[in-house]
Amino acid sequence: MAFARTGSVALLGVDGVVVEVQADIEPGLAAFTIVGLPDKAINESRDRVRAAVVNSGEKWPLRKLTVGLSPASVPKSGSGFDLAIACAVLAACERLKPESIERLLLVGELGLDGRARPVRGVLPAVLAAADAGYAKVAVPQATAAEAALVPGVEVLAVRSLRQLIALLCGEPEPEEPPEQLFGSGPDPALAGLALPGLGVRRKDASGSASADGGWRKDLADVAGQCEARHALELAAAGGHHLFLKGPPGAGKTMLAERLPGVLPPLGQQEALEVTAIHSIAGLLPPGRPLVQHAPYCAPHHSTTMPAIVGGGSGLPRPGVASLAHRGVLFLDEAPEFSVRVLDALRQPLEAGEVLIARSAGSLRLPARFLLLLAANPCPCGRWSRHGDSCECTPTMVTRYQARLSGPLLDRVDLRVEVDAVSRTALLRQREAPAESSAAVAARVLAARERAAARYAEAPWRLNGEVPGHELRTRYPLGPEALRDAEREMERGFLTARGLDRVLRVAWTAADLAGSARPGRDHVRTALALRGNAFRSASPPDPCF
Ligand SMILES: Nc1ncnc2c1ncn2[C@@H]1O[C@H](COP(=O)(O)OP(=O)(O)OP(=O)(O)O)[C@@H](O)[C@H]1O
Ligand SMILES: [Mg+2]
Ligand SMILES: [Zn+2]
Repeated sequence: MAFARTGSVALLGVDGVVVEVQADIEPGLAAFTIVGLPDKAINESRDRVRAAVVNSGEKWPLRKLTVGLSPASVPKSGSGFDLAIACAVLAACERLKPESIERLLLVGELGLDGRARPVRGVLPAVLAAADAGYAKVAVPQATAAEAALVPGVEVLAVRSLRQLIALLCGEPEPEEPPEQLFGSGPDPALAGLALPGLGVRRKDASGSASADGGWRKDLADVAGQCEARHALELAAAGGHHLFLKGPPGAGKTMLAERLPGVLPPLGQQEALEVTAIHSIAGLLPPGRPLVQHAPYCAPHHSTTMPAIVGGGSGLPRPGVASLAHRGVLFLDEAPEFSVRVLDALRQPLEAGEVLIARSAGSLRLPARFLLLLAANPCPCGRWSRHGDSCECTPTMVTRYQARLSGPLLDRVDLRVEVDAVSRTALLRQREAPAESSAAVAARVLAARERAAARYAEAPWRLNGEVPGHELRTRYPLGPEALRDAEREMERGFLTARGLDRVLRVAWTAADLAGSARPGRDHVRTALALRGNAFRSASPPDPCF
């Protein structure tokens, strides 16, 4: 047998394409070529694979060896083809039975010593394998738990090439020092892939609080701020983007940090989507890798545009916009972010995904998040609607506010002014503690279920996702409910686009209240929360 084939996966964003890895040995001078659109990392795998095979005590064929990756038109990158290439070569030179690897899909890097090393993107790779009908995959041990998230696929956890050969030949597994060398603790190779400083937080798989304590933050800690709390609940229930504006120390950051705590856990499909993105980013902890809770990303305002969108050579690293997929993206001190970063958010807000340009075509990564913005009203922060001690010049204020451009704010359904909490509210906090996150989360979940049932036949699930014209035509409200909104339009205080925002929020208010459709009260609530928080600095805002 001088020819053998097996399977592996090329990743295009979060989509995997199954690749056939073929090895062919011909008589001739010793040579080793890889064909089929490999990138630099795959070409390097020639040396890794050869060293790994030899160091695993096997013979390397000293003849003309060609490895082909097909389809050749799909660009391939990364080191995840090593295991498949090694096995194909070993089968071509009859060390392995070709049948033993023909219906097996292998993903993983090899160390020069023959150790199997984890790679990014194992979950999307195994999902693609399952879609293509593979029932068995072999992945490095550190990523076996991640591969096992895919139902209906048997996972071989590979410690080393030597162990894999033994498994495939039905020989006894070699004695290897398993735990110390290939332990299941955090793998340094993956830890090195984490994106530091991006403020990604999530619950662990059991849903309990993570070590950083971020999830223990409870809404009961927030005194007063009724309007902002209500807006937060609406945002969570309807998936509406939210803008909190207020002076320093008003509790904006505090409120924002409590938003993930009232979001429901991710559904099964969503959890796999989010886990796949975090797998590509190399951010999954080994052992219990499924991300079950909505991610929360709070990048610093010095974050650059590529870090938001993602990119890089080879397998692209997802940016913060994708890491926040199905969760919250919080931009604290939003006007301090660079204009390029704020502009880059428009596309994911519009389409729910980011496009990463590549020489071989662009890649898509999902990026559907709840955007939460917080800002001071002016550079000094002291401007307030109740008389002010602000020392900024009008030009400074205008320039500051203009940084959050119309196209971005246009997508934000809820805009709330947060005043500094009153002393009495703070002091009364002990006698009458505010409502807890658990109570709010229960209402949010019930409201989301209501909306999901209403949109069962439609492509969206949350009120915040429904296009305005669909809402107006498919789910019309009675004249009584719309009376206040009509009056605002007549007075010129509400535009057509503003009306769409009001309707979306009114539906969420109705869902939270358990009503079949919004009444006049719900529309009023929505009108009060649609205020264009920034423009209110100069002409008085009609909503407040
Ligand atoms: N409503 C509140 N209830 C209880 N504590 C509060 C409240 N508002 C503010 N605080 C206290 O003030 C601190 C500062 O609040 P926070 O950082 O959320 O303000 P901020 O609005 O984000 O201010 P900045 O604009 O400076 O970022 C909080 O850590 C908390 O101790
Ligand atoms: Mg703050
Ligand atoms: Zn000021």
